[in-house]
Order: sequence, then C-alpha cells, then structure tokens
Amino acid sequence: MYLGLENGVALVTAASRGIGRATAERLAAEGMTVVAAARSVGGAPEAVGTGRIVPYTHDLGDAAATADLVEKVVAEFGALDVLVLNTPGPRILPALDTGWDDWTTAHDLLLRPVVQLATAAGRRMRDKGSGSIILLSSTWVRQPASGGVLSASYRSAASAFVKTIATELAPSGVRVNQVMPGATGTDRMQGIVEMKSKNNGTTVEEEIDKVVADIPVRRWGEASEIADVVAFLASPRASFITGTALPVDGGAIRAGH
Ligand SMILES: NC(=O)c1ccc[n+]([C@@H]2O[C@H](COP(=O)([O-])OP(=O)(O)OC[C@H]3O[C@@H](n4cnc5c(N)ncnc54)[C@H](OP(=O)(O)O)[C@@H]3O)[C@@H](O)[C@H]2O)c1
Repeated sequence: MYLGLENGVALVTAASRGIGRATAERLAAEGMTVVAAARSVGGAPEAVGTGRIVPYTHDLGDAAATADLVEKVVAEFGALDVLVLNTPGPRILPALDTGWDDWTTAHDLLLRPVVQLATAAGRRMRDKGSGSIILLSSTWVRQPASGGVLSASYRSAASAFVKTIATELAPSGVRVNQVMPGATGTDRMQGIVEMKSKNNGTTVEEEIDKVVADIPVRRWGEASEIADVVAFLASPRASFITGTALPVDGGAIRAGH
C-alpha cells in the first residue's frame, strides 16, 4: 500500500533498537527523514530505502533537553510531520515490592517525556494544520499483568493524555493515535524471560512457552509487525482515524470486541 509519507520528517524516540528502531526503519523506507533519538546512537545519517535515519543522541530522562527536542528537530530539519512516542520499559516488579524511587523513575521516563513532546509537537502541528502523533504503549494499559504495575500505571496516564489531545487537536487536522504492542521479540522481551527463568528456576524456553501459551496466534510478535501499524496510522491512508488505541498482540486481549 502506498502510504504517501515521502519527504516528511519524523521523530521517533527510544529508537536505537527494538520497536523504536523498527519503526524508524519502516518510516525511512517510506521516504521519510527519521530523527531516531536514543542515548546510544551517533554517527552519520543512514540511508534506508528512499529515506534516511538520522541518529540523535538524547536521554528522555533529561527533562530540559526533552522540552527542547521538538523545536531542535524543526530548526534542524525544517518540519515535524510525524511524532512517534516510544519510551524505555520500566522495571518489572510485583506492585508491593516497588519503592517510591521506582515510581519517580518510571514517571520521568514513561509519562513526563510523552507530555512534554506531545505538547510541543501538538502546538506546532496545530498551527500548521497537519501532523500525526502516535503513542507506543502496551497491552498492559488494557489488561494489567503481574509485575507490570509501573508500566500499566504510567502508560494509562499517557493513554488518557493522548486521547484527550486527540479530541482537542482533531478540528485542526492533527491526528493522535496509540498502538499497544503485546509480547514482541526484542532485547527487552529476552531480558524479561531470562529474569523470569532465573526467578522461577525454569529454562528460558519454558518461560517463552508460558508467554506464548496466552497468545492465540501462539507466537510473539516481531518489532516490524508493530512498525507496520505505526507507519499506517502515521500516514494519510489513516486520515479518518484519530483517538484510537489499537492492540497489536496476536489476539492476546480478549475484551473490547
Ligand atoms: N517488547 C515487548 O514485548 C513490549 C510489549 C509492550 C510494550 N513494550 C514497550 O515498548 C517500549 C519499547 O520496547 P522494546 O521491547 O523495543 O525495548 P528495547 O528493545 O529494550 O529498546 C528500548 C529502547 O529505549 C531506549 N532508551 C532506554 N532508555 C532511554 C532513555 N533514557 N532515553 C532515550 N531512550 C532510551 C533504548 O536506547 P538507548 O539504550 O540507546 O537509550 C532502546 O532504543 C518499552 O517501553 C517497552 O516496555 C514492549
């Protein structure tokens, strides 16, 4: 499907690997200039398809730098057409084992940057009369799971925030949507099953089997499968879709038909 994204500028955060990186690659393959922000990126822009990925060293935990990020991208690249709000995953802990430091750290990485970046981009896009913002969250917003309290709590707040700005920005031609990945094969997922295997005295394969057993398609997703959906929602092909929250999870969420 032709997406009509070429020549646009996108900012994807937390984009050095995993879902963020796959999203940056997908948007670049459509001909966009994609500013891929993360802590461990650097070097020269990379050609991908008809577009390019521009590595941009950025720590989402740096509140002052995050407040300025959108304006810096616009100053350097001339526009911001698509903002993909990806964030690092927080600690996986039973709720009653969390300390206040865990909550403030998760707040500063999962919620504050989303509000800062979406506000700055939303104002710019509203004034321009076009643009697309996509929050990458998690199915845990809909279906909280043991160990996922930090993720579910702050992503739920972020979800409410983007739903609200979707309503407020819709008349100006700016669309705001959310993609909720289910289990996806990335470094983070590998780390989670390794941690569970250590805690439970099981093998990693047994822990993978437990995750997959709860997914109707009986496998976890690829980061590229999340990225495909983000690219569609970002594009003019999704011009009548705003304010939606779409699970991409192999059928794992049963409610909400
Ligand atoms: N994988 C899944 O099954 C799954 C499912 C649902 C939701 N999610 C969520 O989706 C997000 C991405 O997941 P993933 O599996 O792709 O994770 P991942 O492979 O661990 O990648 C995490 C990304 O976050 C970046 N990052 C970490 N700390 C950062 C910081 N302070 N500032 C800027 N960037 C930072 C990392 O880059 P640097 O280290 O270079 O900064 C990396 O690019 C996470 O929030 C995760 O919880 C994942």
